[in-house]
Amino acid sequence: MSEPVRIAAVIPAAGYGKRMQSSVPKQFLTVQGRSILQHSVDAVLQNEAVEHVFIAVSENAQHQLPLSRPKVSFVAGGDTRAESVLSGVLHAITQQYTHVLVHDAARPGLPAEVLAAVIKAGIHDDNGAIVAVPVRDSLKRSEPDQLIISTNVARDNLWQAQTPQLFSASLLADAISEMGTDNPALTDEASAMEFIGYHPKLVMGSLKNLKITHPEDLELITAFLKV
Ligand code: CTP
Ligand code: MG
Repeated sequence: MSEPVRIAAVIPAAGYGKRMQSSVPKQFLTVQGRSILQHSVDAVLQNEAVEHVFIAVSENAQHQLPLSRPKVSFVAGGDTRAESVLSGVLHAITQQYTHVLVHDAARPGLPAEVLAAVIKAGIHDDNGAIVAVPVRDSLKRSEPDQLIISTNVARDNLWQAQTPQLFSASLLADAISEMGTDNPALTDEASAMEFIGYHPKLVMGSLKNLKITHPEDLELITAFLKV
C-alpha cells in the first residue's frame, strides 16, 4: 500500500523586494486590511488538503511577523529564492509531509479554483504540476544593450510560469540540491525538476495571481483583492 499523501505549503518570503523600492519588503505591505504575506497564507489554506504552511523569512524580518498561528511555522530563508524554498521543503520532510506546494509570498490573489486544479493535477504524478498562463503579447528579442528588435519570437506554446507549484517533497529537495541553490537557471521549482529529468504538467493560472513586483502592481492587486 502506498503511503498517505500529506501536503504542506512552502511560502518563500525572505526577499527584499528591490524592484518595489518600498520601505519594508513588499510581502509586509498592507492591502485591503491584511499584509500581502497574510493574504498569500490565507489563499493556500483555502484548500483543506493543505495541512500546514512553512514560511521562509529572513532573520531581520522576524519582528514583522505574528508570533504564532495555528497551521503556520516560520523557518529560516536564504540568500536566493531557491535556498529559501529548500529550507521550507526540508522542514516539511522532517515533519513527514510527502508533498510540497510552493507559493510565492508575493502572489496574494491566488484563486481557490486554481489552487485546487494544481493539487489535482500534480498529486498522483511524480512529474508534479505548476500554474502558468499562456504568453499574451508578441515577443521580441533585442540586440544586447540596444533598444532595437533583432528578431520576433513565436509565442506558440509559450507559457509564463506562476506559483503554486506542487511536487513530491523528496524529489524537489533532490532536484534543488542537484541543480544548486545559487544556479541562476533555477528560477522556479519546475526548472529544478526538469534538471533531473521530470516534465511538470501545466495548469491554467489567472491574471489575478500576479506576482507583486513593481509599485504599480499594488493598484491592480488592491482591485483584485476587493470583495
Ligand atoms: N524570496 C525568498 N528568498 C530570497 C529571495 C526571494 O524567499 N532570497 C521570495 C520573495 O520574498 C518572494 C518570492 O521569493 O515572495 C518571489 O521573488 P521576487 O518576486 O523576486 O521577490 P524579491 O526577490 O523580494 O524581489 P526583487 O527581485 O525585486 O528584489
Ligand atoms: Mg527576486
